[in-house]
Amino acid sequence: MAVIDGILNSADRKVTGEALQQTLADLINLGLLAKQAHWNLTGPHFRSLHLQLDELADLARRSADEVAERAVAVGFNPDGRAATVADQSALPTLEHGDIEEGTAVEIMIDALFALIRTLRQAVTETAAADPISQDLLIGITAAVEQQHWLFRAQR
Ligand SMILES: [Fe+2]
Repeated sequence: MAVIDGILNSADRKVTGEALQQTLADLINLGLLAKQAHWNLTGPHFRSLHLQLDELADLARRSADEVAERAVAVGFNPDGRAATVADQSALPTLEHGDIEEGTAVEIMIDALFALIRTLRQAVTETAAADPISQDLLIGITAAVEQQHWLFRAQR
């Protein structure tokens, strides 16, 4: 009924919406993981890694906002509720308690790699369905892959 429903046909809207939704769930999850590690980190390089994890959380939250708003723009309702994120996102998680910095780096590398797989699949899926959403996803993928490199370089 709304005018924005007309941007994509229903098949393309479904493909695009689902790709954006999976990406959204993983981005929200990554933002939560980065904050959990930011708070509970221990180790001799605490300060630099503490700050780096906050930058990652900021990137995840900013990107999640862009992805969710793109979903709405094409007529798909994004779902960022905690239960939905827990159900849909399969990123590795952290144990409760202190997180030694080497463990934090390894978990972030694995979580970023899982997110990269989601993003690259979403990029492929949206290629024909909605190249504008694909463009947004490509930009986010580049930023996430840069973060993956930054954490890998600390091994
Ligand atoms: Fe903080």
